[in-house]
Amino acid sequence: LNTSNDNIVQTTTKFPYRFEDLERIAKHTLAENVFSYIYSGASAENTLQKNNSTFHKYNMIPRLLRDVSKIDMSINLFGKQLPTPLILAPVGVLKMVNEMGDLAVVKAAETFNLPFIQSTVSSFSIEEVSQASSNPKWFQLYWSKNLDVTFNMVNRAEQAGYEAIVLTIDTVTLGWRESDLHHGFSPLANGYGQGIWESDTAFLSSLRDGSQNAMIEGIIDNINFPSLQWQHIVELKKRTHLPIILKGILHPDDALLALQYGVDGIIVSNHGGRQLDGIIPSINALPAIVKAIDGKIPVLFDSGIRRGNDALKAIALGADAVLIGRPFVYSLAIGGEEGVRQFLSNFIQDFQTNMILTGVCSIKEAKEIHIVRE
Ligand code: FNR
Repeated sequence: LNTSNDNIVQTTTKFPYRFEDLERIAKHTLAENVFSYIYSGASAENTLQKNNSTFHKYNMIPRLLRDVSKIDMSINLFGKQLPTPLILAPVGVLKMVNEMGDLAVVKAAETFNLPFIQSTVSSFSIEEVSQASSNPKWFQLYWSKNLDVTFNMVNRAEQAGYEAIVLTIDTVTLGWRESDLHHGFSPLANGYGQGIWESDTAFLSSLRDGSQNAMIEGIIDNINFPSLQWQHIVELKKRTHLPIILKGILHPDDALLALQYGVDGIIVSNHGGRQLDGIIPSINALPAIVKAIDGKIPVLFDSGIRRGNDALKAIALGADAVLIGRPFVYSLAIGGEEGVRQFLSNFIQDFQTNMILTGVCSIKEAKEIHIVRE
């Protein structure tokens, strides 16, 4: 096969191929409260379950006898050429899964030049992550109620060469996560999410003292910001030259407002069912939003991507790129940096195989794949 992707690593060691095995082995590897934090969703977890099961309701119709000997998975996103339409979703507190946390993940992603989105509640600082690898990095912002803290983080990301700001808008308060409440578990309270904060001068100067307790209270207090509204986007645009991407859009009217307020991209996401239960599975929200945006800005997608097949369906339904979440976290738990590398290698090969067999040679063609819904 002559493909445009030279980076596919040939796997030699045995690493699980099936998502279900990744999840099962991670469950045995991690402490119960840690696994549960990653796995679980909000309230009765109906949306979490539906995120995954709804993918099976969309069925592609392949085209045959087309020359698919040359597959180009590359895309152009925010003026940058990327080898695949795959991006790592922002996941906080990764140190609770593996000591090397974000550093392991970003290095694994570097092998394939996949963009890495660093969370506001990362276990490492922006500067540490930026120096660890050379692949593109975006910064995921939880808007702090202290404006100096918010803009200081944005500024640090910009200084460190990050290429986009991903503002998560569905987490103005933490979801009702019964499983974590049951375990009495909060990774922030355990100190896993302060990698950026503990070196942030604006944040440190706002604390009553330098104790660990003051730090944790300060972080939790800062990231709960229910007053967040569209006007804040205007402020953010004045403070950064980086593209601004809104993560968590589910309603086409909010997508239209995003256009009106001049954001550069959106992510259709329900936060992996972790924030609000009883809401639309992300994949069901995608087609109407793609229609509303009408190609004016990139539409990215997450929540429920488990395999290359899912990623291709999301693209066929109009997504420009997809974010991978829980599967890479389980891979980190099982095999550290090498585990994430193996998983990504498998995922890319799986995605490519699916492109070949549906009869498409490029992402542009993948968007034309015919899909019927059961
Ligand atoms: C997340 N997600 C998330 N999102 C975000 O904007 N900032 C964050 O800090 C986190 N942290 C986080 C931790 C864990 C353990 C998980 C599983 C998820 C949400 C993430 O970016 C993405 O939206 C979901 O993971 C997508 O759902 P699936 O595909 O993982 O089910």
